[in-house]
Amino acid sequence: MGATRRRFLSAAGLTGLGAGALAGRGGPATAAAPVVPFYGPHQAGIATPAQEHLQFAAFDVTAGSKAGLRDLLRAWSTASAAMSVGAAPAGDTGEAVGLAPAQLTVTFGFGAGLFTARFGLAGHRPAPLAELPAFPGDALQAGLSGGDLGVQVCANDPQVAFHAMHELMRLARGAARPRWLLAGFGRTGTSTRQPLPRNLLGFQDGTANIMVEHTSVVEQFVWAQAPASPPWMRGGSYLVARRIQVSLGAWDDAGTAAQQRAVGRHKLTGTQLAPLPADAHIRLASPALNDGQRLLRRGYSYTGGADAATGDPVTGLLFLCYQADPRRQFTPIQRRIAGADGLSPFVTPIGSALFACPPGARRGGYVGEGLLR
Ligand code: HEM
Repeated sequence: MGATRRRFLSAAGLTGLGAGALAGRGGPATAAAPVVPFYGPHQAGIATPAQEHLQFAAFDVTAGSKAGLRDLLRAWSTASAAMSVGAAPAGDTGEAVGLAPAQLTVTFGFGAGLFTARFGLAGHRPAPLAELPAFPGDALQAGLSGGDLGVQVCANDPQVAFHAMHELMRLARGAARPRWLLAGFGRTGTSTRQPLPRNLLGFQDGTANIMVEHTSVVEQFVWAQAPASPPWMRGGSYLVARRIQVSLGAWDDAGTAAQQRAVGRHKLTGTQLAPLPADAHIRLASPALNDGQRLLRRGYSYTGGADAATGDPVTGLLFLCYQADPRRQFTPIQRRIAGADGLSPFVTPIGSALFACPPGARRGGYVGEGLLR
């Protein structure tokens, strides 16, 4: 299909509606522009108000050379830029025809497996991309963890998000193979302009999060910095992805009072409990106990299937967090809460991955150009 989605809209006589009217179909989260620019100093999808829907995939690269990797990132970047304005890549699969761009963002990350002799990148692994340690309570599955490349797709329309992932998988054929894939919904709040959402535990999520409008906080805690990060990563960020299964039946059985003690907040209002239990999740994860460190949490809930043993729905949180350096942000915080906070009896990390997300691409360029050129 060579036609752009926009051309399709005009053929259908819809152009008179204007972009703003079309944007309204995308969902309530962002009343702002329907298009999030792909090109810019930072990749879209990090300091972007979190959209309603997620598709996340990790890929293993099968291409055997740096040139093959470069071609993939170039094709992915070009297609992502097109899809983010509602245009269709060549050979498009078609399921987003007629749909608005829905604030689509695509964010690419590089896993440790890229920094090997195969791609001539052995000496280039950034120090903050150090392997995560094992944490108490981890029950990690190899097939749900790791990956040479991480791709986060977000949009306010689930079909637009799936279409983008579908296209990226199609373009990757012969160069990279999907290792794990997960759909998510019910974002963590990351914007002062969004109402706070609730996660599947029934609590508001994002109350004490970094808000993307607070640019000096984002600057300090989210973007990679010198000297820890090399020049090709400046303006980028490190993404920790943790697939955390929630035992929903046990959580329901615990009752509201115990749930509130586990989190440290009132379920309905989100206000902090007084006094705050010593092992409350928000206490052990707080900057006060973690050397002032913070994370940009940008996770999504997932569901799928029924647990054969309990009959409970299989649910969880794809916990995604962006930061300048996981060695002083995610890792110490996770060390403090793992097996120790009030949530621990109810949650089991079953997947884990870490990616270095390069800065944004310049128009006509591609993500990772600073490393791969
Ligand atoms: C299934 C797993 C998890 C659930 C359901 C969960 C849920 C929550 C909830 C309900 C809050 C309070 C509202 C808010 O401030 O957003 C919160 C806060 C927070 N969570 Fe989690 N969380 C999970 C895992 C994690 C993990 C793995 C980390 C980091 C290692 C983390 C770090 C934080 C931080 C830093 C805060 C804010 C603390 C503060 O300063 O008040 N959470 N989480």
